[in-house]
Amino acid sequence: MEPIVVGICGGSASGKTSLCWKVQESLGVDCTVLEMDNFYRGLTPEQLPKVHEYNFDHPNALDFDDIYEALATLTKGHDAEIPVYDFKTHSRAPYKQTIKTNKLILYEGIYSLFDPRIRDMMKLKVFVHTDDDLRLCRRIKRDTAERGRSVDNVLDQYFKFVKPSYDEYIQPTMNYADIIVPHGAYNKVAVDLIVLNLKNYLV
Ligand code: ADP
Ligand code: C5P
Repeated sequence: MEPIVVGICGGSASGKTSLCWKVQESLGVDCTVLEMDNFYRGLTPEQLPKVHEYNFDHPNALDFDDIYEALATLTKGHDAEIPVYDFKTHSRAPYKQTIKTNKLILYEGIYSLFDPRIRDMMKLKVFVHTDDDLRLCRRIKRDTAERGRSVDNVLDQYFKFVKPSYDEYIQPTMNYADIIVPHGAYNKVAVDLIVLNLKNYLV
């Protein structure tokens, strides 16, 4: 049976990663989670000093060709070699990581429903809808604790790039979703619906 791809989309800190783990836990089967974040283009030495002017929330910040290749490899039943991205240095590591193929591949990221070639590979498309204020609060906590940012830095980036790009490019991709999930991973009814749907393909 060919591996199936499920797209999990939503704004930054909407709960995409948490939903992936919840679906995996409820399904009770091992899945592969492919994180879009690993496919950020590394900044060049010329771009690095001006990092505060760089828009990581624009689709051009990502390499969709590489994502497509990785998903195509995984769906053909082969393991994929993908980049390792570091949010603290805004760069790719000089080595790659191996992602195991699996019956179920959960592909999550702010632009997971953006590229038509990638959307066409999906059996199910999910959009996690979480209010902007909640997402901003979570992002402040996460980025200061885990991604080496200050509160001022997170707020500047949010108003300059994160929110405008969400409104212009990401939120419109909600139209491609089969299921829109309010409250993310804590929405048990939605998790159950997703799991029920996936069981049709996995048995
Ligand atoms: P994303 O993958 O969309 O960026 P995450 O799932 O990593 O989002 O969640 C971002 C942060 O918000 C994490 O610290 C996570 O623990 C927290 N979080 C996620 N969902 C909820 C929720 N429903 N209620 C409270 N906190 C949550
Ligand atoms: O995990 P999450 O979906 O929040 O990751 C996407 C976010 O990561 C984007 O909103 C982008 O602003 C941020 N990002 C960043 N620094 C980078 C790369 C991405 O702040 N170097």
